[in-house]
Amino acid sequence: MCGMTTSRHSARFILAAVVAIGIAARVAGAAPEEATQPGFAWKDGAEVYAKVCAFCHDTAVGPTLRGRGLDPTYIQLIVRHGNRAMPAFRASEIDDQSLEKLAEYVSKAEANK
Ligand code: HEC
Repeated sequence: MCGMTTSRHSARFILAAVVAIGIAARVAGAAPEEATQPGFAWKDGAEVYAKVCAFCHDTAVGPTLRGRGLDPTYIQLIVRHGNRAMPAFRASEIDDQSLEKLAEYVSKAEANK
């Protein structure tokens, strides 16, 4: 009797473990798909600025960017390669085309109000 109970318990434990591993594997398998997001694209330069750059550059963590007429090529260079406390952003985060639009936007936008 006792032996039966024990084996039923361990069978249930093994089943639970297998289910847990299965869920973990499914979550791990889904992650890279979400990271690359084939259909994802930034709407325009203003959106990238608002959602990525403003976090530091509108909060005095980084220097003011807008209203300074910064060279778009310089902006692109800094964004791709970073500079001291300024983090670098890869093409998987901000694609080339969006970076071009972002640099154009930042260069021409009015100063922070
Ligand atoms: C985590 C905070 C942070 C984020 C996010 C960030 N920056 Fe910066 N950025 C900084 C800091 C800090 C500096 C100053 C670096 C230094 O000189 O040490 C800087 C410097 C710069 C500079 C040079 C400014 C100058 O006066 O020469 C440019 C251009 C720039 N950032 C563009 C951007 C753009 C565009 C984005 C959005 C894609 C962005 N940054 C996102 C923190 C950030």
